[in-house]
This record gives sequence, C-alpha cells and structure tokens, in this order.
Amino acid sequence: MSVTAEKVKEEPGIGTRCIRSQQFDLDTLYKLCELTDKIRNICQTKEGSNYISSLLNDKRAMLYFKQPSTRTFLSFQNACHILGIKCSEIRDISTSSFMKGETELDGVKTFSQYVDLIIMRHTSTDFVNLIDSNLNNNMRIINAGSGTDQHPTQALLDFYTIYKYGFKNKKIAFVGDLNRGRTVRSLALMLSKIDGMKLYFIAPNGYQIKSDILEQLEVPYELTDDLESIMPLVDYIYMTRLQDEYGGIEETWDPDAYKIDLNNVNRLKNNAIILHPLPRRDEIAVEIDNDPRAKYWEQTANGLWVRVALIASMFNISADDIDKSKDYNKIKRLYLK
Ligand code: CP
Repeated sequence: MSVTAEKVKEEPGIGTRCIRSQQFDLDTLYKLCELTDKIRNICQTKEGSNYISSLLNDKRAMLYFKQPSTRTFLSFQNACHILGIKCSEIRDISTSSFMKGETELDGVKTFSQYVDLIIMRHTSTDFVNLIDSNLNNNMRIINAGSGTDQHPTQALLDFYTIYKYGFKNKKIAFVGDLNRGRTVRSLALMLSKIDGMKLYFIAPNGYQIKSDILEQLEVPYELTDDLESIMPLVDYIYMTRLQDEYGGIEETWDPDAYKIDLNNVNRLKNNAIILHPLPRRDEIAVEIDNDPRAKYWEQTANGLWVRVALIASMFNISADDIDKSKDYNKIKRLYLK
C-alpha cells in the first residue's frame, strides 16, 4: 500500500527525525523560529560564526539526493558548514554501488555506518518511510523532499517567512499545480494549525490539491480555478510551477491563467506578500522581483537559517542552551547588539 501524507500522531519536539510536516506541533514550530532568529543574529559576526561552527564540529552528515535540487541541497550543505558538520554526498547514483545491484535500503544503511545525519531527497515517500522505520532511532534523518507528497523542510522555511510577516487572521492563496506540488501539501498541513487562517487553493480541476490533504485541514478553505477574483482578498499568495516531470495529468495547462505579472499584480493588496518555493518558470514575471511585495528571494535566504536551526534542534541544541553557554555570553557582551 502506498503511504502518503497520512494522519500521524503528533509527538512534541523534533527528535531525531524530520519526515513529514504533520509531526510539528505549534510550540515546536515557534521554538524553531526563535532558534533560527538567534543563530542568524549570532552569525552576523565572525566571533559568533566561529562559536556556532563549534557546536557540532564532531558530527558528519550524508546528503543523498536522488532528485535534482539547487536550493535544498545547497542550503543543507551550507547549514552543515555553519554548524561545523562535515558533509559527504551522493547526487549521481551511477557512481554508487547501487549500480552493482545493491538495494537502496542497504545503501542507506551503509551511509548510517559513517555519519550522524542523513539528509535525503527521493522520488518516493514509501522509501523515506522505509528508512524511517528500518534505521536505528539514534540516526538523524531529514526528508528533503519525497516525490509529489511531502517537503517538510520547505514548509518550515515557508512557515518561518510567514511567522516574520504575521499569522493573525490571515488569508493565503496557493496557486499552480497543487496536485503534484509537495511544498503546498506540506505547508497547508502546517498552516492548518493556526487559528484564524483561511486557505484558498487555486488551480484548474485536474491540478487541484488532493483529498488526502483536505481531509486533514482544521481551518476553513476554498477550492477555485479563478485567480483574479481571489487576488484582492488574500494577505499571502504562494505561487508554484507546473510539476510536469511527474506526468500523470492529461488536462491541458494554461500558463497565462496562473501567473502574476505587471498586468495583474495590482489586484493584490498593497501589503500582500508574494511567495514562491522556487524554482520558477513563468508563473511570476521577472519584473515582479522589484515589487516590494515580492518576498521569494528573502524566503529562499530564510531556508538556510531555518535548516541550521532544524539540524541544531535535532542534535538537542535549543535557544535556552545557547543562552546559558559561557562562550555565547562572552561573544554577546563583546560583539553582538
Ligand atoms: N524549493 C526547492 O525545493 O528547490 P530545489 O528543488 O532547488 O531544492
């Protein structure tokens, strides 16, 4: 049986696994946002960066990316560097012993003999779940995107970006290929924990978000194919690209119906926030980058720091621990504002 974004029991805290967005309760999410802000502030100085890079400099990580990635791979790799973690990687499986017929489970078990953390992007959530259930619980594992199902760390950085601009009684529209868009699936589940949120899913019928997500939402939502009528209503608009690398949808896609450009951007509120997980195609015109409402490059930058905080949390480092550290207090007194 295929296992997708199923309803899971929430355990408080992060623990050693980041597999699906439903695992994060609100308290954990807010603590992660606070830790992100703290580490980011400390790293503004060389002395602070040196302190943060001493926190996990006895640890090693494996980046196993079986699907293409720019942002997630590089931000995780650089997050490890910021924390002092040494990284290995496999991105091209033709260089690995999978080519000799080794099972993928054996391959990932092999990684676990060498490292303390496995960060994995894969075509299949079933495989991520298989690793989750087969590897010893001491092994830290992060799902860096699994097929069309989940992208929990993208949801964390999106959550952090929205946390910075405000949650109270906000409306958010998700636009694009929501059927195969794992970022929207994971973020919708996370935002569903915020009282007063309203979600709009804007896509043509064949590209609409699937019922397995809708069944788990605890906040009001609407489904529509009409972008123009929803634009003036929302505080956040989260654009996504066509995910045609997965196939499986026959219905024709009209790119002009699901884009923001200079012709329609002023239908948005003056203080609306435009988000996109990136990469984009033409669903946000390049000219929109100069609009003060466009925050997707800021969102991308946030991904680095949220991933630093996530990894630190998975190794039991909290904002309180940092506050109590003598080294940090010395740096704070001498160098930080
Ligand atoms: N947003 C995102 O996952 O981007 P990449 O595919 O480049 O990692």
